[in-house]
Amino acid sequence: MKKVLFVCLGNICRSPMAEGMMKHQVLLQGLEYEYSIDSAGTSAYHVGERADERMRNTSEKYGVELTSRARQVIPEDFDNFDIILAMDQSNFKNLEILATQNNKNIEKLKMMRDFDEDRNNINVPDPYYGGDEGFEEVFRIMERSCIHLIKYMEAEQ
Ligand code: 4NP
Repeated sequence: MKKVLFVCLGNICRSPMAEGMMKHQVLLQGLEYEYSIDSAGTSAYHVGERADERMRNTSEKYGVELTSRARQVIPEDFDNFDIILAMDQSNFKNLEILATQNNKNIEKLKMMRDFDEDRNNINVPDPYYGGDEGFEEVFRIMERSCIHLIKYMEAEQ
């Protein structure tokens, strides 16, 4: 089983989209029984909430359902997952601090857009305070990145 965790700040926009897209893509490729996929936030602001309605509406428009409930990342996530994808450099830094303070190995930690072949920015821009186009952009970034991430993980074994 390949265990993948996506992490953003609130766990209501970017990482739920990444989780939903990754589940969608592994299903399309018939790989759903080989992957365990989850998401979390570095903050506890939105714990227990469903994904932001704007993110869900954009995603569902393209046939991808988002079912996650927000949770905060915990040190044990570094034991329980094979790869942890941070959505931006701030999330990455906070995950690095969490891991280091708890004697966890940070080799599993990567930037999501390392897997985006079309990137113009190393960060997945936070759509929370912006308009609809931000949510559309996040959807496209996750589509490209998840397809490439699966190729990478399938080639790795
Ligand atoms: P996310 O977006 O990190 O992609 O889930 C955000 C959600 C909420 C907040 C910031 C970013 N917030 O400040 O409440």
